Amino acid sequence: MASTKKIACVGAGYVGGPTMAVIAKQFKNCIVTVVDINKERIDAWNSDTLPFYEPGLDEIVKEVRGKNLFFSTDVDKAIIENDIIFIAVNTPTKDYGVGKGMAADLQHWETIARQIRDVVKSDKIIVEKSTLPVKTAEAMETILNTGSSLHFEVLSNPEFLAEATAINDLLFPDRVLIGSRETESGQKARDELVKIYRSWVPNENIITTNTFSSELTKLVSNTFLAQRVSSINAISALCEITGADVDEVAKAVGADTRIGSKFLKASIGFGGSCFRKDILNLIYICRMYKLPEIATYFENVIHMNNFQQQRFVDNVIQSMFNTVADRKILMLGCAFKANTDDVRDSPSLPVAKTLMSEKARLVISDPKAMKNMKKELGDPNNVDFIEDPYEAAKDCHAILIITEWELFETLDYQKLFDVMIKPAYLFDGRNMVDREACFEIGFNVYSIGKAPLIH
Ligand code: NAD
Ligand code: UGA
Repeated sequence: MASTKKIACVGAGYVGGPTMAVIAKQFKNCIVTVVDINKERIDAWNSDTLPFYEPGLDEIVKEVRGKNLFFSTDVDKAIIENDIIFIAVNTPTKDYGVGKGMAADLQHWETIARQIRDVVKSDKIIVEKSTLPVKTAEAMETILNTGSSLHFEVLSNPEFLAEATAINDLLFPDRVLIGSRETESGQKARDELVKIYRSWVPNENIITTNTFSSELTKLVSNTFLAQRVSSINAISALCEITGADVDEVAKAVGADTRIGSKFLKASIGFGGSCFRKDILNLIYICRMYKLPEIATYFENVIHMNNFQQQRFVDNVIQSMFNTVADRKILMLGCAFKANTDDVRDSPSLPVAKTLMSEKARLVISDPKAMKNMKKELGDPNNVDFIEDPYEAAKDCHAILIITEWELFETLDYQKLFDVMIKPAYLFDGRNMVDREACFEIGFNVYSIGKAPLIH
């Protein structure tokens, strides 16, 4: 019988936790230890209340935790005792020094590379799970192998899960990508990793490439996805003026199988911890390699997203006679998308901040993300957080739909309208309400990419 694989993962965040839980569930012949320097997070992973909300995650963690999945703060022990070490630490945009506001901040990554070099006593396979600039694996191998008698093989295995669907994405991935060096030891390490995924992922969905292609593919995938959202959002502005309906345009355009229907939902703009960061990273790399035209091309994906978010909130202010000072405004949703409690780079943040700077009185209602939003906004005086939407709508002048929670589709808009100040405004940043019905109720309805319905 094959020996039990000993796997560690450094970084118990949105990627490290769910990915390792699924590996432990699907590949029984392994013991996985997930470590993090954040004790609060590890305590949460070991408790009944996991550190964040992700549909389906609780069940899987309950099934495998304490059997072949363990959470700990002892990073040294985990990297010494295990043979395969995944690294899923955060790689945010740098907010200091060279490349500030553009480049990926690799400090956590480098810390762990040095820690591995300093403490381990046997050969290891290191797996990049974090999203990293192309050529990072090479840099890591240099750090690890310089002056060492041990051998470290660094593989790239970027993660493509999306929050809110992470478990499904991990169980049934479109593809698993593994990049390795084309040496004998590189291919041996790659085969080890392939074996793990083969226990539940069909062979044809496992793509192997060289390390650089794998690292670059991750940045390109996120950039292309974001580019589609920015493209349809750009068209939404044109639709509002011309009388075209952006949802009808998206449906008809997406029916062309060469284009496809996914990621063409016009919105208030994309958010989340990765799209902006990874596009900026790609732009920075293009500049570094003296390709300014390519950098400018992708920069527009971000410009369009900023424009869309600003356009939404400017429209709120202009439609309400150019002043929202002391007006009570309800934001339905603050998570960057439905079914997550994550507010990192959520469009709700610029919208809330602009309205606060205009002295509006904000009420925010979200089924899962209010705690994180409070932290982001610093719990200011002029913002109330109320979970019950009907309670939250009392005496409001306007409702803004920011997140596409299913709950907001099924609300009784007549009931909401009845408790609001008139004229009552509805700004649907996700095109999810029945706008004709809401107009009939009495709302002035503003949708994305559709002509407004005004009484
Ligand atoms: P996260 O911030 O939720 O988690 C990262 C964790 O790493 C944190 O808990 C942090 O404490 C820990 N950490 C940092 N330095 C450490 C160290 N030296 N030792 C031990 N632990 C350390 O981040 P995330 O959202 O899980 O993202 C991780 C990486 O995966 C990023 O590169 C991101 O771009 C990429 N990614 C994220 C997603 C996503 O949906 N969030 C999807 C695909 C890829
Ligand atoms: C995204 C990618 O989809 C994942 O493949 C990738 O692994 C991940 O980034 C990452 O690297 O972190 P995520 O950000 O979790 O996943 O969520 P998405 O479903 O991609 O949505 C991103 C943003 O785009 C959300 O704000 C969403 O509301 C918005 N969006 C998405 C639209 O406005 N319209 C669409 O048609 C699709």
